[in-house]
Amino acid sequence: MPAVSFQHVSKTYRSSRGDVHALTDVSFDIQQGEFFGLLGPNGAGKTTLISILAGLARASAGRVEVHGHDVVADYAAARRQLGIVPQELVFDPFFTVREALRLQSGYFGVRRNDDWIDELLVNLGLADKANANMRQLSGGMKRRVLVAQALVHRPPVIVLDEPTAGVDVELRQTLWQFIARLNREGHTVLLTTHYLEEAEALCHRIAMLKSGRVVALDKTSALLAGTASTMLSFKTEGELPPTLADRARWVGRIVQIKAHDAREVEDILRQLRICGCPVEDLEIGRADLEDVFLEIMQADTSPAAFYDVPSAPRERVR
Ligand SMILES: Nc1ncnc2c1ncn2[C@@H]1O[C@H](COP(=O)(O)OP(=O)(O)O)[C@@H](O)[C@H]1O
Ligand SMILES: [Mg+2]
Repeated sequence: MPAVSFQHVSKTYRSSRGDVHALTDVSFDIQQGEFFGLLGPNGAGKTTLISILAGLARASAGRVEVHGHDVVADYAAARRQLGIVPQELVFDPFFTVREALRLQSGYFGVRRNDDWIDELLVNLGLADKANANMRQLSGGMKRRVLVAQALVHRPPVIVLDEPTAGVDVELRQTLWQFIARLNREGHTVLLTTHYLEEAEALCHRIAMLKSGRVVALDKTSALLAGTASTMLSFKTEGELPPTLADRARWVGRIVQIKAHDAREVEDILRQLRICGCPVEDLEIGRADLEDVFLEIMQADTSPAAFYDVPSAPRERVR
């Protein structure tokens, strides 16, 4: 039995300004114990899919199961399998951190949970904030509490919706260490992120969403292997020969050209030399998930869509 099964899920939001097709016929399974990544630019439908999984939104068509429980017909059983860290910071300002966690525990009917709550507090770097009031915490600290809240009933499936967006490096590391440990211990993880490096490092498989449709789904290694493996980048004031111009990507004054192997790299450099195109600051690097992502997101879209793609933490693409 898969941990999570999305079957032909569609979602249309109706509004006065017309219908928004947030999801169209999304189908895939996440196996138990998998670390699964859901990637896509803003507006792709990631949060909508997770809201449907969490029972916070209703699919217009299709069905979703968690460990075999339908999220609508069998809501309580499905929800109990899930620990969900929402994208938005939602919290109750009147409780302390520990109270908020006990309350959440009670909501799932888990009693005498203080040992696990303490472990969560320690592992998420919240131990000294246990008695602090939620409203006194910084944004990063609140997010840690949201993670702890999601995990308080030891759910087998952990869902994180952009947990590290706008979060400091330290929390990112603390969080990933802990989530990776839980995954090693058998928890299934579904992560949405626009930090592609995180997805590349953590996820076994990745689905890419674009305008509400799954446009790629594969093992992370297969996605990486499917792209040209080398990326040539350099600056130039000159004009590229037409054969290269066709396949070059411009990022400001930097040109990026993909190559499959060393021979192709040699050939590109030879063409540049022959046409007298000046080359500065040449770098030859490995193509990464970001390149795959850009390639897939650019397919059959206007070049303008290029700039909607969120950047990785190192801001390589501008
Ligand atoms: N409650 C809503 N009402 C109307 N449209 C919505 C609502 N929530 C999301 N959308 C629209 O659905 C699309 C997908 O949004 P979302 O699921 O938040 O994407 P993502 O999380 O990938 O950024 C967007 O076009 C968004 O504007
Ligand atoms: Mg979102």
